[in-house]
Amino acid sequence: MINFSAHMKSKLPGVKTTIFTQIGQMANELGAVNLSQGFPNFEVSPELINLVTKAMKEGHNQYAPMQGLLELRQQLSDSFYRDYGLRYDAEDEITITAGGTQAIYTAISTVIHEGDEAIIIEPAFDIYSPGIVINGGIVRPYRLTGDDYKINWSEFKLLITRNTKLIIINTPHNPTSTILSKEDMLKLQDITNNTDIMVLSDEVYEHIVFGGEKHQSVALFPNLAERSFIVGSFSKTFHVTGWKTGFCMAPKALTKEYRKIHQNVVFAGNRPMQTAIAEYMSSPQNMEISPLYEKKRDYFMELMKDSRFRALPSHGSYFQLYKYDEISDEKEMDFVITLLKEHGVAGIPVSYFYSNGYDNKVLRFCFAKTDETLEKAAEILRKV
Ligand SMILES: Cc1ncc(COP(=O)(O)O)c(C=O)c1O
Repeated sequence: MINFSAHMKSKLPGVKTTIFTQIGQMANELGAVNLSQGFPNFEVSPELINLVTKAMKEGHNQYAPMQGLLELRQQLSDSFYRDYGLRYDAEDEITITAGGTQAIYTAISTVIHEGDEAIIIEPAFDIYSPGIVINGGIVRPYRLTGDDYKINWSEFKLLITRNTKLIIINTPHNPTSTILSKEDMLKLQDITNNTDIMVLSDEVYEHIVFGGEKHQSVALFPNLAERSFIVGSFSKTFHVTGWKTGFCMAPKALTKEYRKIHQNVVFAGNRPMQTAIAEYMSSPQNMEISPLYEKKRDYFMELMKDSRFRALPSHGSYFQLYKYDEISDEKEMDFVITLLKEHGVAGIPVSYFYSNGYDNKVLRFCFAKTDETLEKAAEILRKV
């Protein structure tokens, strides 16, 4: 049998099976309440399911166009116009992908050449770094510390060198559930102005923003928009993470290069889902999901209020961080295992999202769950 390490050099020697798989498996084996991985466990819209069934029955089962179904790109263009008063051209500036993950990988591959530097903001969603490294790039992490996870842009700026080619941002942010403000975006615009730095803006939680705040898409800032790839995910917006359907929006010249990679990585996204989602999106109210998640966030916080976990503010996404420093001084990963094995609830250590393992005694819980699941989890956590 071929010994991989003797015959071939690993491109990602440090990468192990993702923590979501590890913790998810342990939670299943132990029968624990699982608030770890970010997926909803409630019912998908029956209308959407019927639309997929209809699309399949009507024969929309062969390859979608490489760029994605035009009807869906048009719906996206219209929905973006309604939300932000801006138009991305359906023909030349929008590409439908096999989920946000593929969209992100493709954007990184489009920009990063051997030796290029990319700045990511840690804690960072775990697919950014490997994508950069696979493409021969160098990851420069900017680390958020303390409990408010705010960017100090003067410090951030110090990471920029002549080799910086890409900055990856994510708002609303996984795992911290913070959102970038207008001032943040203006600062980013300022420091990238007159440079050849591209921006990858991961906006997969754009429709989950709380407290009446406005999602600050890079699209709203002209000098940022011209250098940015915006990534979105229907899987997140319509609670169908298993469908792996997303998109990338970028100005025409960037999209042209992007599609060269896209067509050679996946060629096209899933066809029947695209047909169904295009029809579902023709009712704009189907995108209004913030109230649903805000209610869930508040319900879980209320259930947790007599616990010794301290909720840090969640401004968007379907996560909330809970600080446990009054309960234990164990490291986050050790405390996650204790919670799982001794109490039966699964969360995610935020230290996992830092390349240096920065440990702030906080866990990420996903509240995109049925009330029953949240009640069960909180009942256990209140006793810890
Ligand atoms: C911040 C962030 N970006 C991208 C993705 C990937 O999106 P998708 O499931 O559509 O591939 C996720 C999924 O968890 C995420 O949290």
